[in-house]
Amino acid sequence: MAQLWGGRFTKETDKQVYDFNASIRFDKRLVCQDIEGSVAHVTMLARQGILTEKEMQEIMVGLTSIREDVESGKLLIDEKYEDIHSFVEAVLTERVGEAGKKLHTGRSRNDQVALDMRLYTRLQVIEVDALLKDLLEVILNTMKENLDTCMPGFTHLQKAQPITLAHHYGAYFEMFKRDRLRMKDIFKRMNYCPLGAGALAGTTYPLDRDLTAELMGFYGPTLNSMDSVSDRDYLIEFLAALSTVMMHLSRFSEEIIIWNSNEYRFVEIDDAYSTGSSIMPQKKNPDIAELVRGKTGRVYGALVSLLTTMKGLPLAYNKDMQEDKEAAFDAFDTVKDCIGLFTGMLSTMKFNKERMAASAMKGFTNATDAADYLVNKGVPFRDAHGIIGRLVLYCIDKNTSIDALSLEELKKISDRFEEDIYDAVSLKTCVEKRLTVGAPGSEAMRRVIALQEQYLAEQDDDWFPDSGEYKI
Ligand code: ARG
Repeated sequence: MAQLWGGRFTKETDKQVYDFNASIRFDKRLVCQDIEGSVAHVTMLARQGILTEKEMQEIMVGLTSIREDVESGKLLIDEKYEDIHSFVEAVLTERVGEAGKKLHTGRSRNDQVALDMRLYTRLQVIEVDALLKDLLEVILNTMKENLDTCMPGFTHLQKAQPITLAHHYGAYFEMFKRDRLRMKDIFKRMNYCPLGAGALAGTTYPLDRDLTAELMGFYGPTLNSMDSVSDRDYLIEFLAALSTVMMHLSRFSEEIIIWNSNEYRFVEIDDAYSTGSSIMPQKKNPDIAELVRGKTGRVYGALVSLLTTMKGLPLAYNKDMQEDKEAAFDAFDTVKDCIGLFTGMLSTMKFNKERMAASAMKGFTNATDAADYLVNKGVPFRDAHGIIGRLVLYCIDKNTSIDALSLEELKKISDRFEEDIYDAVSLKTCVEKRLTVGAPGSEAMRRVIALQEQYLAEQDDDWFPDSGEYKI
């Protein structure tokens, strides 16, 4: 047991209590952020005359050596310490002596952990955004190559109207683009520095909170010390955004699983992204898509867990908040893995375009267009709907399709049908005539693709104020 407190205690902490309370097992991943925060804190303390230049220099040397040694693996994080903050301070004092004991001047672990978690989460937001961008590039490439690849569009998982693969992928482009916008938006709200809030009520030292905020690339300091130590909204927002990313990935996965099924065979997942069965030699399973779908639940779980942790907490810091970490870290890792693997799977997946087109032609996907044809010939839409409904019934009975009927047969149902009906209900016309913004016609799609290309080409690495000065 190694802790930062103990003066007012007359008994040793019970071993089980100590272990239950300790967080180093999981907060050790904040070691770099903890050191980064201490470097900024100590720089500021010296500028304010709270520490001498010499003390500051000694602490800096110590902190830098700890960071280097942890990174190189020379220094292992010893789990006998209560948390990562205690570990860093203890090793520092071991290495630089008296000066190390002054590191924590004007600081509490409450503002320290609030800062560490914000610094760490901020990097995750940027990483997730970059991964989403890679995914969008893959989706857009597939769109560009498949403007004329017809497939059925579904409602209720029943064939509805023909669309193109470019159009279908375009829907996911929109979703992941919105996910990226959410990342930028969350970053804007979270990028304020809680350091200097102390335990809850600030400190009596003349801290320069603007300076520490600026040193770490924040827009500025947070404005209420109670809120600073007890706010986890940014984490909740991020977990909500990650849950939405997973919901999108899961829907896409579900479609790929369907497209990959024996009945559909629209796609062929690359061997490198599928797995076999231990008993059935013929099997090639879409495990990555299934796992992404399956892991969605644990990311939702992290969100619900943190919302529940926070819901009854009085101001300000409460130990409950230590529970923010494990679930959040698991969600960060899970989402990053899922986006990366999913992107790889998509970029290597092949399409069976003939089967997709053949499937688009079956199932009366041109029934709406046949009704629209009659409307163009002067039949009111509601009547046209009824006529085509009867026509579909006739086709089902004869086990045929609208376009395979003779003009004679068609005329028996409505005398408005002429020779041009065949062109009007062909797969190509059905898709190509849909030219409103957002529709699958290739001309409409080309305009959208140009906008999406422009969006992806826009510079988007301006996360920090005075971009470029702050190094991550
Ligand atoms: N391990 C704690 C956490 O993650 C650090 C803050 C501890 N502060 C305290 N007063 N016990 O929240």
